[in-house]
Amino acid sequence: MANTASIEIEGKKYDFPLVKGTENEVAIDITKLRGSTGGVITIDPGYKNTGSCESAITFLDGEKGILRYRGYSIEELAEKADFLEVAYLLIFGDLPTKEQSEKFHNDIKAEAVVDEDVHKILDAFPKSAHPMGVLSSLTAALTAFNPSSVDVSSEEDMYKSVVRILGKFPVLVAWTMRKKSGLPLDYGNKNLGYVENILKMMFKVPNEEYTQNPILVNALDKLLILHADHEQNCSTSTVRITGSSHAGLFVSLAAGISALWGPLHGGANQAVLEMLEAIKTDGGDTKKYMAKAKDKNDPFRLMGFGHRVYKNFDPRAKIIKKAADEVLGDLGVEDPILGIAKGLEKEALEDQYFVDRKLYPNVDFYSGIIYRAMGIPTDMFTVMFALGRLPGWIAHWREMRLRKEPIGRPRQIYIGATERKFVPMEER
Ligand code: CMC
Repeated sequence: MANTASIEIEGKKYDFPLVKGTENEVAIDITKLRGSTGGVITIDPGYKNTGSCESAITFLDGEKGILRYRGYSIEELAEKADFLEVAYLLIFGDLPTKEQSEKFHNDIKAEAVVDEDVHKILDAFPKSAHPMGVLSSLTAALTAFNPSSVDVSSEEDMYKSVVRILGKFPVLVAWTMRKKSGLPLDYGNKNLGYVENILKMMFKVPNEEYTQNPILVNALDKLLILHADHEQNCSTSTVRITGSSHAGLFVSLAAGISALWGPLHGGANQAVLEMLEAIKTDGGDTKKYMAKAKDKNDPFRLMGFGHRVYKNFDPRAKIIKKAADEVLGDLGVEDPILGIAKGLEKEALEDQYFVDRKLYPNVDFYSGIIYRAMGIPTDMFTVMFALGRLPGWIAHWREMRLRKEPIGRPRQIYIGATERKFVPMEER
């Protein structure tokens, strides 16, 4: 393959270098396009064809259904690693040794306390507030309690901010849920594993001991791993672009949480469950909802279906579907919603509309069913996604800063009014 691409604009030819990744993906480097052509830019709403950066964190091939973190397949990581190992891998590039792993966990535990004044901020939210809004606000508020900015040229400083947020974020997640359920806040227990501690902080009731259920621990660990990174998705790109102005880590994460909230992104897991509930209440008629999803005059979409990048299958959905069967079986939960989900999936996979558009179940289609079986309220599902995505966001923020990426600032093609003379109010 030639290593340049040529573009002809109004009879004049311009050559641009090609960039090739380690997995042979090819991009046209247009960094000199505007300068050399005297102002021509590219336009690509939704960035369907635009690479915003080079990244060494996650590889995904949507046609083949491949997802790898730092070269390791998601299937192998979900089976053999734990969430903190995966977090370390994503952020620092390699699987930790035993010593690195122990130190990492101990350093995170040392940071797993939150200033009592954050508690006061939490108190000020109405109980009806959506947990994602609360989480985003509290994450931004952490900046006020840890005001010193990170010296990104110092590995030590970077490491400290990473363990700080990995320690405090689960506390905020758990508090967000406890606030909703009216439970007093719990500060966890240093002797527990990372995921065990999260479960305790979420579910411990004041008048009894919290007993760990290994089925729940394993299920949550796996779900967090599956959500841990997904390269340049909407929320991760938001974190990178926010951080590119040299805004701090915590506020960049808060921006990412807001982006994740939307139902086309992380909010889909809540939307899926609400959709399945609505189908159940409506008598379980999946065909009616399939028809709605295909009707261009109906805004309804089959939530948990389709993906910008996966046009074959979402490898995470395969693992989660199997896990949903196992977890519900192990817990002895019979949820009619699972049956509706499976029926809907079968119909969609055989339907020409979905086949033609390569729409497959995504990561969010079955995750809510597991969260529900675990006793997690529906409006906390996207918060759980954020908990899993945290290491990915951190890894991308760190990579972006270490690579000294320029501030993100897209261009536009202006389509508004051309120059007009101001008209005084009385003449309008
Ligand atoms: N139900 C019905 N039709 C759909 C769906 C769906 N879920 N998704 C896409 N389509 C149709 C869409 O109407 C369009 O049809 P046509 O070509 O006739 O106009 C075609 O498929 C392509 O859709 P698109 O909106 O151009 O595709 P996109 O890459 O911009 O959007 C998506 C991807 C994930 C936003 C979209 O598939 C969707 O809205 N899915 C439902 C929400 C969801 O499950 N989101 C979670 C995504 S995975 C986790 C995450 O990212 O956080």
